[in-house]
Amino acid sequence: MTAPQDAAVPPGAQAAPQDVRVGVIGVGRMGADHVERLSQRTKGARVSVLSDYARETAEKVSATAPGSRVVDTWQEVVAAEDVDAVLIASPGQFHREQVLACIDAGKPVLCEKPLAMNPADAFDVVRAEHEAGAQLVSLGFMRRFDAGYGQLKDALEAGELGTPLLLNCKHRNADVLPGFSDTHMVYDSAVHEIDAISFFLDEPATSVQTIVPRTTEKAPEGLHDPLLFVFRTASGTVVTDELWVSTNSGYEVRTELVGSKGAATVGQESGMVTTQQAGSRWGGSVPVDFRPRFIAAYDAEVQAWVAAVADGSNIAPRSATAWDGYVAAAVCEAAEQPLTADGTVDVTLQERPA
Ligand SMILES: NC(=O)c1ccc[n+]([C@@H]2O[C@H](COP(=O)([O-])OP(=O)(O)OC[C@H]3O[C@@H](n4cnc5c(N)ncnc54)[C@H](O)[C@@H]3O)[C@@H](O)[C@H]2O)c1
Repeated sequence: MTAPQDAAVPPGAQAAPQDVRVGVIGVGRMGADHVERLSQRTKGARVSVLSDYARETAEKVSATAPGSRVVDTWQEVVAAEDVDAVLIASPGQFHREQVLACIDAGKPVLCEKPLAMNPADAFDVVRAEHEAGAQLVSLGFMRRFDAGYGQLKDALEAGELGTPLLLNCKHRNADVLPGFSDTHMVYDSAVHEIDAISFFLDEPATSVQTIVPRTTEKAPEGLHDPLLFVFRTASGTVVTDELWVSTNSGYEVRTELVGSKGAATVGQESGMVTTQQAGSRWGGSVPVDFRPRFIAAYDAEVQAWVAAVADGSNIAPRSATAWDGYVAAAVCEAAEQPLTADGTVDVTLQERPA
C-alpha cells in the first residue's frame, strides 16, 4: 500500500481517498479507544470495518466512526476489500490466530500485546511472517512511543550515558480488576518492563529471579503484591522491576538507567505542583489509570504505524515486532516460574530467523 501522507488533511476531517483503511477487531476498552484515535486524531487513516464478539458493542462504536461498517466475524474484517491494514484489540487468547490470518492475507497488522499466550504460539507468528517474506506485524508495546522513553533511548544511542549497567523500573497501579492474579502480574503488567529491556538495551533478558516480599493488606485475596523481578542480560546489565498494583493512589511508571557515564530517569511527570495552605500540603497529582498517562504514546504509536503502512514499510521505526512479542512471551514464562520455586530461571529462546 503506497498511499502518501497528506499534511494538508487534518485528523478528523473528511476521509480522503488515499487514507489507509483500517479494520479493527475487538472494540472493548482498548479497541474503542483506538477507533476514536483513528477517527479523530490520526492523519491519513480511517476506520472502514470493525467487528466485536458482542455485535451491539460493535454497532455502538461504529456509530462514532463515520464511514465504518460492522461485520459479524473477525475473519470478515481481515478479508474485506476495503481494509488495507488491521488493528487487533481482542483478548490475548485470540491474537495468534488473528495475526496469522493477517499474514496469510498479506495485510499489515498492529496487534495489542500479547502476541500470544505462550512462547510456542508466539514463535508460530515469527515463523509465519518469516515464511511470508514480508514484515507485517507490529506489536502494541506503546511505551516505545512515550516521549520520556524516546528521550532515554536517544540518550543511550548517542552514548551520553555510556555503557548501561542497571535499568531500574517501577510500575504502580491504584488497583486492579477482580480476578487479577499473580499470572496477570507477570503477563499483563511486568510484560511492559520486559519489553523495555529489549527496547532500551537491544538485548533480551537471559535470566530472571522473582522475589516475593511481604504482601500489602490492600492486595486482593490471593495476590502477591508487590513483586520484585531481577533480570540479567547476556552482556551483564541487571534490570529491576518493582511492581505494585494495589497502591490505592494512582498510576506511575518510572524508569532509571544507570550507565557508566551517568544516570537518567524518565516518568517523573508531576504536572502542576501546588502548595495548599490547609493542611500545609505541597505536591501534584497522579493519573488514576494508564490511559491518561500514556494517551500521547498510544496516539504516536498508531500515527507512526499508519505512516509506515502508507509508505509500504509496514512497521514504524522503534516499534515492537513479532520477534519482540515472542521474546516477551518467553521471558514472561520464565518470570512466572520462580513464584512457586525460589531461585533464578534461565530464559530459553529459539534462534531468530535471519
Ligand atoms: N498496550 C496496553 O497498554 C494495553 C492496555 C490494555 C489492554 N491491552 C490489550 O488490549 C487487548 C484488549 O484489552 P481490553 O482491555 O480492551 O479488553 P476488553 O475486554 O475491554 O475488550 C475486548 C473486546 O474484544 C471482544 N472480543 C472477544 N473475543 C473476540 C473475538 N474473538 N473477536 C473479536 N472481538 C472479540 C470483546 O467482546 C470485547 O469487546 C488485550 O490483549 C489487552 O492485553 C493493552
